[in-house]
Amino acid sequence: MVAATALEGAVSSSEVRLERRNISLARWDAPGFRIAQISDVHLNNTGMRDKALQAVHLAMKQKPDLLVFTGDFLNKAKPECLGYVKEVFDHLGDAGCPCFAVPGNHDYTCEDTGRLFEVIAATPLHLLRNQIAEVHGISIAGLDDAYHGLAQFETTKSSELSVSTLVLLHEPDYVRQVQGTPSLVLSGHSHGGEICLPGGIPIHTPIGASIYKGGYYPDAPTPIYVSRGVGTLGPCRIFCPPEVTLITVNAPQS
Ligand SMILES: [Fe+2]
Repeated sequence: MVAATALEGAVSSSEVRLERRNISLARWDAPGFRIAQISDVHLNNTGMRDKALQAVHLAMKQKPDLLVFTGDFLNKAKPECLGYVKEVFDHLGDAGCPCFAVPGNHDYTCEDTGRLFEVIAATPLHLLRNQIAEVHGISIAGLDDAYHGLAQFETTKSSELSVSTLVLLHEPDYVRQVQGTPSLVLSGHSHGGEICLPGGIPIHTPIGASIYKGGYYPDAPTPIYVSRGVGTLGPCRIFCPPEVTLITVNAPQS
């Protein structure tokens, strides 16, 4: 009975899981820097809103140095969904660290992207669209949505960038177009496949996440971490729990 219950939990677990990663990078001069990543909340209904609130609080509880959101706020810019964006991300006022975001593909097919961006601008999240920000000597290069051809990849080779440079890019497969020598790319979009075989092996992932499907890829053109995200577009997640990531970044191991 206990085994059956545990299996059921593993198969259909919908609780947001904290994934902790310690990553050593060739180009990084801020040892011990901690980044909380949330992705793909898809705030389409109250269920997704509640899941996203769980994720935001779990991320803030880690007291990170930086919090990032890697795209796909919602699917349709209905008034209630825009309200969920404001409600969820307003909580980041208690994060105690800078909070940055990039848009995802769904944020451009939501039928009122302008209004969505206005709502985001009224929260503590700073939306980066081919822009660079600086936090404690670390550069954050946030790319606009690559799927819609809006990413300006030359942003990641700007002379303004620090040795420690983090790139936010919604669709991970576009890491092959990232220019320059940034330290690490953070992506989402794949949802980890949502429905997986035991061990979290995805059966299908969307265009833009067919190579880099989930987890850390140190040997990609730029090292990249792909979050499974928080929201769900299909009927359920199987062997693929929603995720908040806490990444601790270090300089190369000697
Ligand atoms: Fe996406």
